[in-house]
Order: sequence, then C-alpha cells, then structure tokens
Amino acid sequence: MKIVETVEELQTIVKEAKRNESVVGFVPTMGFLHEGHISLVEHAQKESDIVVMSIFVNPLQFGPNEDFDRYPRNFERDSRLAKNAGVDILFYPNVKEMYPTEPAMKVIVHEGVDVLCGKSRPGHFDGVATVVLKLFNIVTPDRAYFGMKDAQQVAVIEKMIRDFNIQVTLVGCPTLREEDGLAKSSRNVNLTGEEREEATFIFKSLELARKRITEGERNAASIKDEMTTLLDKNSSGTIDYIDILSYPELKHREQLEGKVIVAIAQQYSKARLIDNIVLDIK
Ligand code: PAF
Repeated sequence: MKIVETVEELQTIVKEAKRNESVVGFVPTMGFLHEGHISLVEHAQKESDIVVMSIFVNPLQFGPNEDFDRYPRNFERDSRLAKNAGVDILFYPNVKEMYPTEPAMKVIVHEGVDVLCGKSRPGHFDGVATVVLKLFNIVTPDRAYFGMKDAQQVAVIEKMIRDFNIQVTLVGCPTLREEDGLAKSSRNVNLTGEEREEATFIFKSLELARKRITEGERNAASIKDEMTTLLDKNSSGTIDYIDILSYPELKHREQLEGKVIVAIAQQYSKARLIDNIVLDIK
C-alpha cells in the first residue's frame, strides 16, 4: 500500500492507472477505521482494479461547538488496518494540502438539509459536499463507496453527482453493527461504559419502528412517540431527533408509504450518535 500526502502525487498515480484502463474505487473516510470502513473497502475491491482510501478529518463539516478537536485520530493504526484490508493507495493530506488558501467558494446544499442532521448541524452538509467534490476531482474515481449509516449524506451526494454531472457512481453500503445492534462508528470510543450499554436502545427503537410498520401501523407520529418513550426511558442521552421521512427525498409524510427512512440522533456526554433503517413499505 502506498501512502500519498499530496494532491499532485495522487493525481499523477491515478492518471497513470487510468491510462492502463484501471477501474478506480474510492472510499472516503475521516479515519479511526472500524469494520464498517473495511466493509466499504471489500465492496470496492470486488468492482475495482485499484482502491483508493482517503483519510481526512474535514474541518469544514464541523460546527464551532462540535467535536473536530475531539474526533478520534490514530494514523498508525489506520494505515495498518487499511493495508490489511487491501487498500492500494492511502491518501492522507493535511489541512494545508486540502485548503492551501482560505476557500473562495463552497458547495451550498439547498435540498434535503432542513431535516435530520442538516437541521441540527447547520452548514454541515455544505462542508461535506465541498470536500467530497474536491476529493472526487482529485481522485476521479469510477465508483465511490459510502456507508448507509449516513443515509442523509448519501442522499446529498447523489444529488450533487446529478446536479454537477460528476462522472462517478455512488455505491451505498449497508451499516455494520456490533452484536448488540449498535451501529459501528468511530465516535463509539467516546462513550462511557454506561452510555455504551444505553446506546443499544438506539437500534432497539429503530427495530420497534420496523415492527410497528410490519404490523401495519402507518401513522408516523404515533410510531415516533413510541420510539421516543422507549429511548427516553432507557438512556441518559439527549434525543436530538427521531424522524420518519420518505427516502431519498427526505420529506415528511403523515401516512407512511413507499421507501422511508427511520432515523435517530442522540447526544451522549462526549459523542453524538446517529443511526437509521430504510424500509420499503408495500
Ligand atoms: O462520512 C464521512 O466520513 C465524511 O463525511 C466524508 C464523506 C469522508 C467527508 O469528509
């Protein structure tokens, strides 16, 4: 595995690979890798000749009071995991390399950001879209692999690809979970032991919604009430949102039908966790 720290070197390597008609798969990450990221690499390997992973904690997508400084980082461990997973090129730029000057422009996302994380983290998806657009321009991948745990991010990036005619196929990969259902996340290390136990109720609440919908309940408000009661009763975290929306449009519907996302964000003392399930209601 080759570690590349500059945009120029990365572009030279990818250009050469493309001259040889290699298919480039791309896994963008912010590091502190877990099995969820490794499964993205596995998906990429199946469909690509070379797999590029980026590790960059993007300051643009963190609000002033968010966890940019606290975001877990361990490059030695990450590079070992990436190498073992079969990543060919690990792109590891620093902030100066990605933003050598104060950016003169950024991507502004207008649609699908008035709900879920977009609502509680104003500007977050502008920062995500901006860095992903830059990474797409630098890496020029054929396919890019994103986890469905960040389903709103997937919906936003799909729209950016469509609106800006970017020649890349986005592949949304399933969320990986711990045995007790907690979605794998780099932020889980910031939970206390007690919070780690309580956080299992995030997935239990999503499963409750799945059960109620399977039983025939179609009223979004009453399902959300039941989920809120279960999560509030069993955890000390503050619920940021519990919502059920059409997917990928991310619109509220009183009566549920078609493809919907059931999503939760919950704030613990040092970690904000998100999770979701996407259901197809026949
Ligand atoms: O999902 C993430 O880790 C980040 O939002 C991404 C896509 C790498 C952009 O910084």
